[in-house]
Amino acid sequence: MKIIYVTGCLGFIGSYVTRKCLQKGWMVYGVDKCTYVANRALLEEFDKYDNFTFLEKDIKDLDHLYDCDYIINTAAESHVGNSIIDSEDFISSNIMGVRNLLDLVRNKPENCNRRPIMFHFSTDEVYGDIVEGEHTEEHLLHPSNPYSAAKAAADMLVLAWARTYNVEYIILRPTNNYGIGQYPEKLIPLSVKNMMRGLKIRLHNNGTPIRNWLHADDTAEAVMAIIDSGNVNEIYNVAGGFEQTNAETVRKIVSVHHDTDDWKRFVDFSYSRQGQDVRYALNDDKLRSLGWKPKKIFDEEIASIVKYYKTNFIW
Ligand SMILES: NC(=O)c1ccc[n+]([C@@H]2O[C@H](COP(=O)([O-])OP(=O)(O)OC[C@H]3O[C@@H](n4cnc5c(N)ncnc54)[C@H](O)[C@@H]3O)[C@@H](O)[C@H]2O)c1
Repeated sequence: MKIIYVTGCLGFIGSYVTRKCLQKGWMVYGVDKCTYVANRALLEEFDKYDNFTFLEKDIKDLDHLYDCDYIINTAAESHVGNSIIDSEDFISSNIMGVRNLLDLVRNKPENCNRRPIMFHFSTDEVYGDIVEGEHTEEHLLHPSNPYSAAKAAADMLVLAWARTYNVEYIILRPTNNYGIGQYPEKLIPLSVKNMMRGLKIRLHNNGTPIRNWLHADDTAEAVMAIIDSGNVNEIYNVAGGFEQTNAETVRKIVSVHHDTDDWKRFVDFSYSRQGQDVRYALNDDKLRSLGWKPKKIFDEEIASIVKYYKTNFIW
């Protein structure tokens, strides 16, 4: 049995990771500051497990780590648009929060037990965009917006704490995640919410940006595959190999929601996002060599996800 911290356990990806750890019978300390995106209703599900303990805390202010094997850090401010308006919370949670977790790990006495492994969630956005080809884990980081800059800074802290203090780590860099349970500020749930309100979907930069889509369940499976491997001090991309333009994503959402091919009627094309990345693409061969591969197929999942958001409307 393992003992795991999952920070950001009431967020989108954190909830999938928490669920998998609980189902394995591992002891889970779920940490969450409960920002506006946190889904407190998840506590009802998680509290049914005797192996779950919830700590309502900011990762920046945690002052003690109980004995554990891994800290899986999914806690973060995650919305690029918010970071462009005001980056303060992004610097606080995504950089200072990570520094605090790293210090808690490095200060854990080694005379009794091995120190926990810092399993840090990064993002494909740290590499910046790429017009052709794919980013591998060796590529330099070129973040384009305050969110991705803060995430890249955190990756640098993890690597520095590893080199200077021998903190053991994993850095996971996922592409765009989709699935049930995402706060309606992200493209899929926001599109459904806008259509429910009779508002147009604001598609930045004419919908031309290209994104990879990976189901959050496959991301959580990637975490399990890495932990099962026992590997440490590695960076892994996780992508899944499926990419499409944002326009294509919205076309599919609209066609499920309204059962129509006339999707452009529901879209406002007038807005461009500052610093918009044209395409993200990751090579995840390193992760696949551990036996991981994605199980969910976007085109098979999207209908039930859109229907879910339609009937589970979040104000
Ligand atoms: N969602 C994606 O498509 C995606 C893609 C690549 C990488 N990521 C990364 O994965 C991680 C999880 O993303 P997500 O989409 O699930 O995020 P989310 O915004 O849905 O959830 C984040 C959770 O962390 C909590 N939180 C925020 N700041 C905190 C703090 N200082 N202390 C404690 N809790 C805090 C929030 O309350 C929330 O419950 C993030 O690190 C994000 O950068 C996400």
